[in-house]
Amino acid sequence: MELSVYRNSFLSFLEENTKFTEPKSLYEPVSYILQLGGKRMRPLLALMSVDAFGKDYKLGLHAALAIEVFHNFTLLHDDIMDGAPLRRGKATVHEKWDVNTAILSGDAMMILANQCLEVYEGDIYKKLMQLFQKTALEVCEGQQYDMDFENRNDVSIPEYIEMIRLKTSVLVAAALKMGAIISDASEKDAEAMYQYGLNLGLAFQLQDDYLDAFGDPETFGKQVGGDIIENKKTFLYLKALENLEGSEKDQLLTLFTTTQENIDSKIEITKKIFIKSKAVNEIQQEIKNYTQKAFDVLEGVSISVSTKEDLIAFGHYLMGRKV
Ligand code: IPE
Ligand code: IPE
Ligand code: MG
Ligand code: MG
Ligand code: MG
Repeated sequence: MELSVYRNSFLSFLEENTKFTEPKSLYEPVSYILQLGGKRMRPLLALMSVDAFGKDYKLGLHAALAIEVFHNFTLLHDDIMDGAPLRRGKATVHEKWDVNTAILSGDAMMILANQCLEVYEGDIYKKLMQLFQKTALEVCEGQQYDMDFENRNDVSIPEYIEMIRLKTSVLVAAALKMGAIISDASEKDAEAMYQYGLNLGLAFQLQDDYLDAFGDPETFGKQVGGDIIENKKTFLYLKALENLEGSEKDQLLTLFTTTQENIDSKIEITKKIFIKSKAVNEIQQEIKNYTQKAFDVLEGVSISVSTKEDLIAFGHYLMGRKV
């Protein structure tokens, strides 16, 4: 099935099922963020997964919406936590309205996401809820590690990988597994789809970190350099520290532990260090490695060759993305 079929179907379902009334100040930000666009990758993966196991992909629309609404909720709160001014090329909700609005509209979205799953019944409902709640809590854990790491200077690469597994990968993985659950796939196949999603999600977050520093400000849609401003301990930063020694290492440590008067120069110097230390080459290799791991997992899943090809094409599309 063409990706555009899932996408169009999901977009009309989203439109139909996100009509809100009063109070406007609660729901306008919800409509605003949901209509700002985005890649919609999680809902697409959920629908592809239902399809992969032989059921009508439309059975997955409510779950796909639950996941997308949840994802957008995390963005409202994440943008407050990261002090981010821009999302998908537009003002973030806490900038356009205020922080309290972004908190409460976010809370409402979390509840709306759960409500989307109420249409499922019996064992399927129970499995979906268990996975969804477990995933939501893991995302909170990942987000907390992400913030804790801002103030630490001894973060290891394995710790970073675990942090991004929690904040990002588990939701991608859950989207795929939820599709498998709805399609009544075997536990083994559902778990394999989850593993495909985990590895794809790790590659995806590494790429997000790369684009945060090196994306094109014209097209990226978020503030380029935001992670550097916030002293985020990304793979680029950790690899650069690992590869450098002497005065260059000290310079990077100083940039990330002292308040910098000139933010633009902090970003510029840091990016030069990321390149010179070969951290940029290594992150690109790491993105390829995790994407390949995702593809390898697909080998053992009982889905058609053409569906595997679709999932592999999706991985390649993500690797090539600029947004
Ligand atoms: C942004 O997710 C948050 C991360 C986990 C990096 P996406 O890059 O999927 O955001 P949209 O929905 O396409 O805007
Ligand atoms: C996002 O990580 C993870 C969640 C939103 C849960 P980032 O903070 O890197 O996402 P962006 O870059 O703001 O989209
Ligand atoms: Mg952020
Ligand atoms: Mg963040
Ligand atoms: Mg990011």
